[in-house]
Amino acid sequence: MKTPVIKSEHFILRPFRKEDVLSLAKNLNNPEISKNMSRVPYPYTISDAKKWIDTKAKEEKDPKRQVYSFAIDKESQVIGSIGLSQVVPGHKAEVGYWLSRDFWNQGIMSKVIQLVVDFGFKKLKLQRVEAKVFIQNPTSRHVLEKNGFLCEGILKKDVIKKGKTHDVFILAKVI
Ligand SMILES: CC(C)(COP(=O)(O)OP(=O)(O)OC[C@H]1O[C@@H](n2cnc3c(N)ncnc32)[C@H](O)[C@@H]1OP(=O)(O)O)[C@@H](O)C(=O)NCCC(=O)NCCS
Repeated sequence: MKTPVIKSEHFILRPFRKEDVLSLAKNLNNPEISKNMSRVPYPYTISDAKKWIDTKAKEEKDPKRQVYSFAIDKESQVIGSIGLSQVVPGHKAEVGYWLSRDFWNQGIMSKVIQLVVDFGFKKLKLQRVEAKVFIQNPTSRHVLEKNGFLCEGILKKDVIKKGKTHDVFILAKVI
């Protein structure tokens, strides 16, 4: 299945495209975002953005894809992203996301998570969507809990970043 376009009042969720390199690099190049993401470096460069977009183009053509990534588009600028990874259709997936610092606390990611989790349950027939959140990231945990995710516990030393291990909360929404 191709990544669909999902329209909402204040943004559009859609696949990444080549023209996104500059806005992606600009909005993701922020230590406040990177510190809460396991695989986003800081600084985040144009080269990083190009590699990301190339990877997404390949995934769109892969019939056995395990990842669905959406750009959060506002006025043709990428202001964030959300993805389902490790997708096992009919069973489960993991959700991950970030939003440009300029747009925090306006309710955007709460709505984005609702739409993408709904896509997962309805179109990919998932029964479980899970998320791993660094324990020092209460905002992300709160946004997930607002969307019906329950915290199932702590995974000790689950993530390695820059050679250092991190404990994470594991949250899930199950239907
Ligand atoms: C997490 C993130 C995506 C949230 O996006 P957002 O659009 O600002 O989220 P929303 O506006 O929908 O909701 C934010 C909620 O957190 C609350 N919040 C803000 N700061 C908080 C804090 N320090 N502790 C707890 N809750 C907090 C807000 O009050 C709001 O809740 P409310 O609607 O009940 O008032 C954004 O902060 C981000 O990109 N962070 C960096 C990357 C990241 O953490 N990604 C997730 C990795 S698991």
